[in-house]
Amino acid sequence: MTPLPLLIDTDTGSDDAVALLLAAAGGLAEVRAVTTVAGNVPLAVGTRNALISLETAGARDVPVYPGCERPLTRALSTAQHVHGADGMGDIGLPDPRRAPERGHAVDALSSYPRQCPGELTLVTLAPLTNVAAALVRDRDLFRLYRHVYCMAGAPDGCGNISATAEFNVWADPEAARVVLQSATPDKVTWIGWDVSRKDAVMTPKDQLRLERAGTPMATFAHRINRTAAAWARDVTGLAGYDLPDPVAMAVALRPDLVTEAERVHVDVAVGDETRGQMIVDRRRSAPAPNVTLVRRVSETGFKQFLFDVCAPAPHA
Ligand code: RIB
Ligand code: CA
Repeated sequence: MTPLPLLIDTDTGSDDAVALLLAAAGGLAEVRAVTTVAGNVPLAVGTRNALISLETAGARDVPVYPGCERPLTRALSTAQHVHGADGMGDIGLPDPRRAPERGHAVDALSSYPRQCPGELTLVTLAPLTNVAAALVRDRDLFRLYRHVYCMAGAPDGCGNISATAEFNVWADPEAARVVLQSATPDKVTWIGWDVSRKDAVMTPKDQLRLERAGTPMATFAHRINRTAAAWARDVTGLAGYDLPDPVAMAVALRPDLVTEAERVHVDVAVGDETRGQMIVDRRRSAPAPNVTLVRRVSETGFKQFLFDVCAPAPHA
């Protein structure tokens, strides 16, 4: 298979980092560039983490463009309580060997697809601030992309950052609304936190397999998620830390892993109490669908892909 040309927009916390490993070392993608945005951690911290993660995956030549340092209209609210102060489990990772590009992420998100219309797939793993800013400049920007996959939203109303909202949409709901206003189901696929909660939870057995694999990427993936593991134990009550960004990346690289999806109209709430809630309209009178919404993936298929990349069997 020809590797899929990718742009990745990330707020590089510990799950984003694993998604970057899957993209950069999984053999299924050619990562053309990474853009960073404030979210899990402040912009500079997420940019540092993206560079570290790409180096861990052996992708030292992928350009990284820093982007927006706060949401479109709101103050920045990070998720350092989930991923650690440094977003990577606070394990003392050394500085990356290289610096980010001088260009801005929003310029890259606009210019890269113009150089190769219809070729690039965009995967977003973060608040949609950068993508929304690029869309405000060109409302039809998505026509230049092959496809856009967004880790975004809690379509079943079961939230992580609030009782009803998922972090990426909650952090910048206005940006999510801008993206949805430019989306069509043939072009934009959303993978919500329900998929991660149901099909991408790293059980104690999975965590032990990563820990014992002994490969640099497996050890990295295991160690940086230690804060997320504590968050799962103390707050979400899941059997282990979940991997929302890696499962969204897996959907982009391996669409065959999707077992349930629907075309539906989605909007997001921007009020105080309802901030970031997904409004999924299935009425007959609903507006035309604007996204393909993934609801389930193959858990075994996803985890096999994860382990094949991070902890390949010795003979592999
Ligand atoms: O809600 C999960 C999302 O928020 C993931 O992208 C995670 O990295 C955080 O940014
Ligand atoms: Ca993220």
